[in-house]
Amino acid sequence: MTGTLYGLGIGPGDPELITLKALRLLRAVEVIAYPAPEHGDSLARRIVAPHLPEGRTEIAIRMPLVEARFPAQEVYDSAALKLGEHLHAGRDAAVLCEGDPFFYGSFMYLFGRMAENFRVEVVPGVSSLTACAAVLGAPLAARNDVLTVVPAPLPEAELLARLKDCDAAAIIKVGRHLDKVRRVLEDLRLSADARYVEHATMASQRVLTLDQVSEDAAPYFSMILVHRRGEAWR
Ligand SMILES: C[S@@+](CC[C@H](N)C(=O)[O-])C[C@H]1O[C@@H](n2cnc3c(N)ncnc32)[C@H](O)[C@@H]1O
Repeated sequence: MTGTLYGLGIGPGDPELITLKALRLLRAVEVIAYPAPEHGDSLARRIVAPHLPEGRTEIAIRMPLVEARFPAQEVYDSAALKLGEHLHAGRDAAVLCEGDPFFYGSFMYLFGRMAENFRVEVVPGVSSLTACAAVLGAPLAARNDVLTVVPAPLPEAELLARLKDCDAAAIIKVGRHLDKVRRVLEDLRLSADARYVEHATMASQRVLTLDQVSEDAAPYFSMILVHRRGEAWR
C-alpha cells in the first residue's frame, strides 16, 4: 500500500487556528514537508511547532528568492520525487500549507505533480482572507456584493481597473508594492476606508488604517481590505 499525501491547511499564524483534522493528521504522519526560504526558518514549520511530535522525517522545500518560474519548477520536481519515495514505501506525508492550501497556496504545484499517481487529500485551513477580516473587524462582503481578490504585484493600471468598480476588495501580497497600492486607492478615493494588517493572528500582528502606515514597504504577509460603503453592513 502506498501512503497518502495530505495538503494540510495550518491556518494564518496562531497555532490555535488549526483544525482538529489537520492536528490529528499532523500527529499521525511520519513525514512532514514545508516551504522554506533559501536560508532560515520556515513560517509554516514555526506555526505548527507547538503541536509537532518529535521524530518526524522533515523535508524543507527551499525556494530561491527569484521571480523566474524555472528554478521553482525544479524545486517542486525535486520535492515531489522525495515525497514520492516516502509514499511508495507506504509512509503517509503531510505538506504544511500556511492558511488554506488552495487559496493562492504553493501546495497546488505539488498537487499538480502528484495527484495522478498518489492518493492526495487536501485539508482546508483558516485562510488569511477570513483571518484578516476577523482581526480588522471588517466583514468582507454582504448581500450581492462582489468580493475581488487583487494581488498587489499587478501593474498599476490593472490594479486601478480591477478596483475601480469593485464592491469589496482584499489586496494581497502587498510587500514592496505598498506605495503603488496607496496611490491607486487614493486615486479612487478609497484610502480613507482601507484597513491594513500585517502578520494577522501572529505575535507580531499590526493592525492600522492605511494612513497610519509610515513605511514605504510592507512585509510579504500583509493585506489591505477595503469596502466601497466603508463597512459591508451599511
Ligand atoms: C501566496 S498567498 C498564500 C495565502 C494562504 N494560502 C492563505 O490561505 O491565506 C500569501 C499572501 O496571503 C496573505 N497572508 C497570508 N497570511 C497572512 C497573515 N497571517 N496576515 C496577513 N496576510 C497574510 C498575504 O497577502 C500574503 O502575501
